[in-house]
Amino acid sequence: MKILVTGGLGFIGSHTVVELVNAGYDPVIIDDLSNSNVRILDQIAKIIGYKPAFHEFDLCDAKAVKDFAANNPDISGIIHFAASKAVGESVQLPLKYYRNNFYSLINILQAYEGSPLNFVFSSSCTVYGQPDVLPVTEDAPVKPAESPYGNTKQIAEEILRDVVAAGSAYKVIALRYFNPVGAHDSAMIGELPIGVPQNLVPFITQTAIGKREKLTVFGDKYDTPDGSCIRDYIHVVDLARAHVAALKLMEQSGFNGYDVFNIGTGKGYTVLEVISAFEQSTGKKLNYQIGPPRSGDIEKVWGDVSKSTQKLHWKAERDIDTMMSSAWAWENYITQNPL
Ligand code: UD1
Repeated sequence: MKILVTGGLGFIGSHTVVELVNAGYDPVIIDDLSNSNVRILDQIAKIIGYKPAFHEFDLCDAKAVKDFAANNPDISGIIHFAASKAVGESVQLPLKYYRNNFYSLINILQAYEGSPLNFVFSSSCTVYGQPDVLPVTEDAPVKPAESPYGNTKQIAEEILRDVVAAGSAYKVIALRYFNPVGAHDSAMIGELPIGVPQNLVPFITQTAIGKREKLTVFGDKYDTPDGSCIRDYIHVVDLARAHVAALKLMEQSGFNGYDVFNIGTGKGYTVLEVISAFEQSTGKKLNYQIGPPRSGDIEKVWGDVSKSTQKLHWKAERDIDTMMSSAWAWENYITQNPL
């Protein structure tokens, strides 16, 4: 079965392409390379043994999307990753975020309107803001978004729910990711931040390898065991497999409409615990200092993943040490073999 993967050369997209092939699907990638590198296609080929179909264009181009759909009527599912995702940038450039994230979603939905397709949407635990109850379940209220980026995830979920409620032929699952980290076991694909990494784990690995001088821990006075923020880190391969599980669930005749799932491990780690796991699993000492809190940061969040376990029949299998050692192996690979 052909599955369209938008943003398929990105961090999560590339790992999902590999897992789709492992599960017997035939992925077709669209990516505009705005936050990826075409050589990731070669890297994917080294893992799966062939180059998957790849189309380079911007999904905001409605005509290009329509032409693609006309030429590819045999798509049975869509996994939609393509979106801008830098929280800080979205505050500076809200129109870029609203334009990219909504035009692309709407164009792709319109292009395949009327076809009975299974649609997986990349959402985020950011929709919960600071939850009142932890671990947070899918029924927890969606809190006012802290950034235009977060708002695009909330509104995109609403768009998809409305489309399904209007009797569309689409089946939709939104996956609310917690914090994706780590890299493929082969170390051939991983996260490729452009410029200075905004996220914790690539900043850790770039510091450990000497690309950055020092990591700053954003705050140690939070109401957590060691004072640093807590997140639910999830290995990107486990996360990629959740997309396959979502497709499989929608392929069953009993699934109709729209559903949403938390995709995390269900366990939270503080920033200092992540650093310590990195040091222990890699044997590298990390140069870090405690700094002031980052504005807009949530104090603590981790997910209740019982709904995913029961209904998606999916569960994260890789622990924090594997997350750190695989991220480190990828950092070493990409430093020795720059794309
Ligand atoms: C952020 C976004 C989230 C988005 C995700 C996408 C915010 C508030 N949230 O998640 O909506 O879906 O990125 O990747 O921006 N940290 C440090 N030092 C650093 C970097 C991070 O201490 O140099 C800490 C942060 O304070 C946080 C944790 O590490 O506690 C994880 O940060 P990060 O990787 O940026 O992810 P989130 O902020 O959780």
